[in-house]
Parts: sequence; structure tokens; C-alpha cells
Amino acid sequence: MRFEILPSLLAADLGSLGQEIVRASNSGADALHLDIMDAHFVPNLSFGPDVVSLAKKTAPAFSRNVHLMMTRPDLYIDKFVSAGADVLQIHVESDCDLHRELRRIRQAGIKNSIVINPATEVEELFAYLDEVDGVLVMTVNPGYGGQKFMPECLSKVKTLRKLKPRLDIMVDGGCNGETIPLAAQSGANQFVAGSYLFAQRDMARAVRDLRSKL
Ligand code: DX5
Ligand code: ZN
Repeated sequence: MRFEILPSLLAADLGSLGQEIVRASNSGADALHLDIMDAHFVPNLSFGPDVVSLAKKTAPAFSRNVHLMMTRPDLYIDKFVSAGADVLQIHVESDCDLHRELRRIRQAGIKNSIVINPATEVEELFAYLDEVDGVLVMTVNPGYGGQKFMPECLSKVKTLRKLKPRLDIMVDGGCNGETIPLAAQSGANQFVAGSYLFAQRDMARAVRDLRSKL
């Protein structure tokens, strides 16, 4: 399986967003993770399709992985597709017809993925595993960057890896040099890191360090 590192733009310096996107793109990371929060599904607001467009304009070759923490992602899928998302991730806890929306994302010509919160049982995902390009297992309660990694979420990664040896399995929240190896041992192959990577002066070196631990 290919290991991938994804910096989360939520932790970037918002005063220099364009430069931060360039910094992440030049770091050798595999894709940019963009966290969309609606102040309803999670108790926070972040940014919308315009920031996805900015990322596309600023670093066209740096793929955009868009994590929709929204109660009604179905109402925004078209907007994020038009803005330049390459992967759209929707939560199993969201309030929409998931089979339909997962299909719609693929029909738009991009990849889909399903996300699961720490409090949700892994069995909730089983009905969708043959319809997704990837799964994202949250290792914090979504809403904020800079939280502590929850190792108890890794049993879900193990279960999913046993069921699907070739599926992309991502972890998000609290990832750093200590926690990424644990997630990889459990079977994850994609790792989102926000506060850890953006806090580094030399992000390229930090990405190399993380890869060396995989
Ligand atoms: C949490 C977001 C994460 C967040 C990760 O709600 O989904 O992507 O940016 O940030 P860190 O790596 O700081 O935990
Ligand atoms: Zn995220």
C-alpha cells in the first residue's frame, strides 16, 4: 500500500493562506486536506468552496482532499466539485442518503470517502465498503485542530483493514511522529497532520521524518 501524508490547512497561518498552500505543496506531502465545518455538525466554522478554489489556483498539481464536517453535505457536493475537490469525504453520521451521495460524488468524476467519528461503531460503515474509494477514521472528535490522538479508535482501522486489504484507510486528528507509526501498524496508509506539520519551520523535513517512520 502506498503511504500518504496530508497536511491539514486548518492549522495554517490564515493571514498568508496562499503562501501556506505553496509551503504544503512544496513539502513533498501527497495532498492537501481541507476541513469544512458548518457550525452544526461540529461546534465550529472554518471555510468553504472559495478556499478549495484558491488551493486549486495556487497549487494546481497538489491534490485536494476535502473533509465535509456538515450535517447536510448533499447540499454542497456540487459546489465543492466545481471548486476543484479531488476527493470528497462525507460522514456516516451526516443527515442524507449516503448511498446516493457517494454515488453522486463518483459520477462527478472524483473519488469519494466515508468518515467515522470516535463515538460511532465501525459496523455502521459495513454497508458502504463496496461503494467507497476510501475510509477516514477520526482519531479525535472533529471540530478543532490540535487535539490529542485517541488510540482507542485504531481498533476500527484494524477491523477495516482485515475486511478490505486494498482500501485506502486514512486517520485524522492528533497525528505526529509518535502516533502515525501506531496508526500504520493498525493498517492505516494515509495520515492527516495539521498542527504538527504547520508548526514546523521546515515542513519538507518534517514530512521526510514522518515518512521515515512508516
Ligand atoms: C479535526 C479536523 C482535522 C484537524 C487535524 O476536526 O478534521 O483534520 O485539522 O488537526 P491536528 O492534526 O492538529 O489534530
Ligand atoms: Zn479533517
